[in-house]
Amino acid sequence: MCGDIEICSRSACSACDGADQAFVLTGGWKGARDDAVIAAAKRPEGAYVSGEATPAIEPGWSPLKLADPRARRDDVAMTSSTSTSAVVIGASGGIGRALVSGLAASGAYAPIFALSRSQPSFPHGIRSHAIDLVDEASIAAAAAAVAEAGPVGLVIVATGILHQDGVAPEKALKALDPGAMAAVFSINAIGPALVAKHFVPLLAREGRCVFAVLSARVGSIEDNRSGGWYAYRASKAALNQILRTLSIEVARSRPDAIVAGLHPGTVASNLSRPFRPDPGAPGVFRPDESAAHLLRVLGELDVTDTGSVFAWDGARVPA
Ligand SMILES: NC(=O)c1ccc[n+]([C@@H]2O[C@H](COP(=O)([O-])OP(=O)(O)OC[C@H]3O[C@@H](n4cnc5c(N)ncnc54)[C@H](OP(=O)(O)O)[C@@H]3O)[C@@H](O)[C@H]2O)c1
Repeated sequence: MCGDIEICSRSACSACDGADQAFVLTGGWKGARDDAVIAAAKRPEGAYVSGEATPAIEPGWSPLKLADPRARRDDVAMTSSTSTSAVVIGASGGIGRALVSGLAASGAYAPIFALSRSQPSFPHGIRSHAIDLVDEASIAAAAAAVAEAGPVGLVIVATGILHQDGVAPEKALKALDPGAMAAVFSINAIGPALVAKHFVPLLAREGRCVFAVLSARVGSIEDNRSGGWYAYRASKAALNQILRTLSIEVARSRPDAIVAGLHPGTVASNLSRPFRPDPGAPGVFRPDESAAHLLRVLGELDVTDTGSVFAWDGARVPA
């Protein structure tokens, strides 16, 4: 990864071949970067570039593995198991909505629950319900509604904030605001923990099941070479620690369960829009592209992977 903010803020960065230009902000600050995305933007042979070779949710591909507790990595032909439900929380978001579509297309789970704070309409057959991660009673109510449909095979938490009214990623210490930091931690770290509190008991006790949360590479302490974004980085680091802790507790009651964090890549969405990651720019995914990658990654994880964070390309993100 190019770690030089000054160099990368110029039009031609010798360190990253200009790939980081997609993330350069007015004033020279950069948004989230991703080794793998930058590498893809350099276009080595066979590299994925947004807009080319869009990954598809194929029959027999990972979502079906997700539903089949007996499936192994080398399984090719497998049957769709619709005996457990799937839940996407943050289904109104760019990536969350695409995850709902991908899961529906796979046919691997039934029913599919799309939970969100602002409740847009979803395709016929998708069950929607309100949830607000800063209101534990609403999380409990949503869990109770999901529980009526029986055991859950997959929970994906796709909520998160980087900015909102009164909240913006900090370039330097002088920008720190305790209220803004608390808001970011509340949604990015505490909210998913409360979701786990109310939804992990719904996971099937027998066989493979998955509890996954959208994290971010910038939550990696080891990978932090450019600084900035105190609240967002720290909230994702806290989230990753919560997931590791959760994985240890969950293993005691559900030995085949997988708890994982996911880095979706740089994705064109409301969250990233202020930082101008235009769809089609090198290394910037459309939400459906990212969702397809994430579902494939989830399908390829096994119980030995529990407690870790994985990027869109399946690479483990360092803690
Ligand atoms: N986009 C990227 O480049 C990128 C990169 C790395 C990691 N990520 C992570 O991926 C996840 C999804 O991001 P995205 O790009 O899809 O962002 P997005 O389009 O802005 O979606 C964010 C989602 O979070 C929901 N949310 C926010 N506060 C909530 C609350 N209090 N209760 C319930 N839901 C709440 C939003 O609900 P409303 O629609 O109701 O506001 C929305 O559904 C985030 O965790 C983000 O950190 C994204």
